[in-house]
Amino acid sequence: MAWLNSSCKFPPRGKPWAVFSFVALGFSGCFQQESILAVPETPLIARGRATYQTFCIACHNSDPRKPGAVGPDVAFSTPQLIELRIMEAKYPPGYTPKRPGGIMPAMPQLKDEIEGLVAYLNALKRK
Ligand code: HEC
Repeated sequence: MAWLNSSCKFPPRGKPWAVFSFVALGFSGCFQQESILAVPETPLIARGRATYQTFCIACHNSDPRKPGAVGPDVAFSTPQLIELRIMEAKYPPGYTPKRPGGIMPAMPQLKDEIEGLVAYLNALKRK
């Protein structure tokens, strides 16, 4: 029974593995994220991805190619559409919206992030 007692004295023994698997899971999450890109990530695309994941996924899907809880899929949106949505919550003339609504607010504070968003949303792999 001495071996049992001694093993009980070292509960931290298993912990490095737990830490390792958390780290591994974290990294696999990153790789998954990158694998939806069709091109190597540039600083501009990375910036757009960060903006999207921060300001858009409350309503849109974290994979922009898929519909979100509130907003539709937005991958491959044109620069004009993205700019009008962000600056004025409008659509280009003649454009048929994917969803009716008027739910999305304009976010003119993201003016300087439009270029990155355009780059990110148009760098995705087509499914
Ligand atoms: C508060 C929820 C919300 C947030 C936040 C939001 N959207 Fe939207 N978005 C919507 C909804 C809902 C629509 C559908 C039209 C409407 O109701 O305004 C939409 C429509 C769009 C469209 C037009 C899709 C189409 O082709 O018809 C684009 C592009 C878009 N959003 C991009 C973005 C980007 C980029 C961000 C982040 C900077 C963002 N949205 C943040 C809710 C949101």
